[in-house]
Order: sequence, then structure tokens, then C-alpha cells
Amino acid sequence: MRRSLITGLGAYLPARVLRNDALPTHLDTSDAWIRERTGIAQRHIAAEGEATSDLAAAAGRAALARAGVEPGRIDLLLVATSTPDRTFPATATAVQRKLGLPPCMAFDLQAVCAGFAYALQVADSLLRTGSANRALVVGAETFSRLLDWNDRGTAVLFGDGAGAVVMEADGQPGTPLDRGLLAARSGADGRHHDDLYVDGGPSTTGTVGHLRMNGREVFRHAVARLSAVAEETVAAAGLGLDDVDWLVPHQANRRIIDAVGKRLGLDPEKVVVTVDRHANTSAASIPLALNVAYEDGRLKPGDLVLMNAMGGGFAWGAALVRW
Ligand code: ACO
Repeated sequence: MRRSLITGLGAYLPARVLRNDALPTHLDTSDAWIRERTGIAQRHIAAEGEATSDLAAAAGRAALARAGVEPGRIDLLLVATSTPDRTFPATATAVQRKLGLPPCMAFDLQAVCAGFAYALQVADSLLRTGSANRALVVGAETFSRLLDWNDRGTAVLFGDGAGAVVMEADGQPGTPLDRGLLAARSGADGRHHDDLYVDGGPSTTGTVGHLRMNGREVFRHAVARLSAVAEETVAAAGLGLDDVDWLVPHQANRRIIDAVGKRLGLDPEKVVVTVDRHANTSAASIPLALNVAYEDGRLKPGDLVLMNAMGGGFAWGAALVRW
């Protein structure tokens, strides 16, 4: 049986930073409220004319360079996003063109904030079975375009960005001590379809719509789901939470991240937090956080990295990687 290895990691953040104290005054919010309830201090906002595919291509280019892989060798491109450039074709095909990738399987994956965790599992399955040999997996979002800038309950929570990994198939089955994706789990529960959603779409309103959220309900479920899927994934690899070197969770809210870390019994120093500077970038948040931990030297070869996410659907997922 083959396994997949992450051989490159890259990220991109739009240049414009919007700090809490520069949010529109009509939102009637404050830096103190946002920091206390969410841990967020700022977010990046895509420039006019800068599309999700631009962010994704920049992150993808960085990941390819780090992996030392020529674009012509990629045979699978997956873009996890809920903010596609167009209703169709897939944003992945725009990224494919921007990066000069050869004809190959290229598609978008829509699992909202769990999108990157889902995408890792799907890419891993395709690599393991030999359907592909070298994948570029991207999480990219321009959530600023989905926000209702009159709703302080949601407008303050999200930001734009992209992160990407190169995943390559390895012929050896390996052990949990060897590099590679060791286990992944994902799921969804459509009973919560209306707790976090966008109130538009091609087949309903014919509009793009705005993000709507039942924040308390999301919060209540997030801690339980994120903890459960993390535990299942570690157990599936035959390992324990004590073995985990880094938890790189979806970055939605500092209070959710802290509660999950506590429930899993992890030392807070092992939890990578970037929600303060990126806010919630949905499918991009995990690879953006991974990239921060990589660039500041925390992530080292051989480390065991646990990623988990939950969002609209509700959909959730986790992946365990020996770095
Ligand atoms: N600034 C100032 N006041 C605000 C703001 C704001 N930005 N937003 C809401 N308020 C007010 C409300 O109007 C309310 O006022 P009232 O008491 O006069 O009616 C008060 O603050 C309390 O509102 P709640 O919604 O009850 O506040 P809560 O403490 O639940 O915090 C929050 C809201 C931060 C959204 C919280 O519910 C949460 O974090 N939920 C999780 C949502 C999340 O992270 N979603 C991301 C997508 S899902 C995911 O990624 C896991």
C-alpha cells in the first residue's frame, strides 16, 4: 500500500490588513469586544479584482517551490473553497491555468471550514490508490465578499487568504514513525444545515448571498465535534494524544481553540494559534497556520501534527501527519 507525504507548504495573504479598530464605525463594535469574545485582532482583505484563484495560485506557487516540484509534474489539483471565482467552472481550473499545470484531474471541494481537512483525505485516497502521483492541495477563500457588512455578529469574524501543500505518493507502506499522512477522518450532519450558511445560490435566489450564523449553536457543537474527530483520527493511527507534537486547528475563535486543546489534554504550547492575525479564513485557515509554524521553526521533521476543523453543514474533519 502506498502512502502520501507532504513535501511542500506555501501560503499567501492579501496585502491589506484590516485591524479591529479600523472596522467601519456603523458596525458599532469595539476592539475590546472582538478580542475578548474571539481573540481576533486583525484580518487580511483581498484587493479589488483579486480573486480566490489569485490567492490560491500564489500559495500553490510557494508550495511547489518549497517542494522543488515543477508545475508540469502535478497530476491532481484540489482547491477547497466556498468562495469560488465563478459558479462554474471549478476555481481549480483557473488555478491550473495560472500555474501552468498540465491537463490533469482538477476540481473544487466544498466543505466550508472543514474543506482543507476533507481535501487532505480525498487527495490521500487518490494518491494511495494510484489514481494520482503528485497532488497540489489548496485551501483558498475570499470570505470578505460573502459578509454582510451591516451585521456585526459575523462581519468581524472572517478574513481572506490561501494555503497549499504538495502531496506526493511514496511506494512504501511505512509505519507511524515514518513521514506521511497517517490517518484522516471526516463527516457531516445536515441537520445543522441552517445554523451556518449563505442565504443565496444559483438554484435558489440566483444571487451570491451573505453569510448567516447561529453563533451560539455553532460554538456549542464545535468544541464537541472538533475534539471527537481529533480523538478518532489519532486512535485510527494507533497512536495517543500524548504523541501529538502540534495541534493545528481550524482558526475560528480563540475560545473554541482553547476549549478543544483543554478537552484533548494538550499543553497550550503545543497548539498553533493564528486567529489573532488571520481571523477565520475558512478552508485556508489550517494551511495558513501550518505555514506560520513552519516558518517560525516550530514544525520540525518527524513531528506529529494533528489538524482538525469544523464549519457549515455542519461538516468536520481531521488529519494526522508525521511531518
Ligand atoms: N461587537 C459588539 N457586540 C456584538 C458583536 C460585535 N461584533 N457581535 C454581537 N454582539 C452583541 C450581540 O448583539 C449581543 O448583544 P445583546 O446582548 O444586546 O443582544 C451580545 O453581543 C452577545 O451576543 P452573542 O451572540 O450571544 O455573543 P457570544 O458571546 O455568543 O459571541 C460569537 C458571539 C463570538 C459569534 C460566538 O457565538 C462564537 O464565537 N460562535 C462561534 C461562531 C464561529 O466561530 N463561527 C465561525 C464559523 S464556524 C467555525 O469555523 C467553527
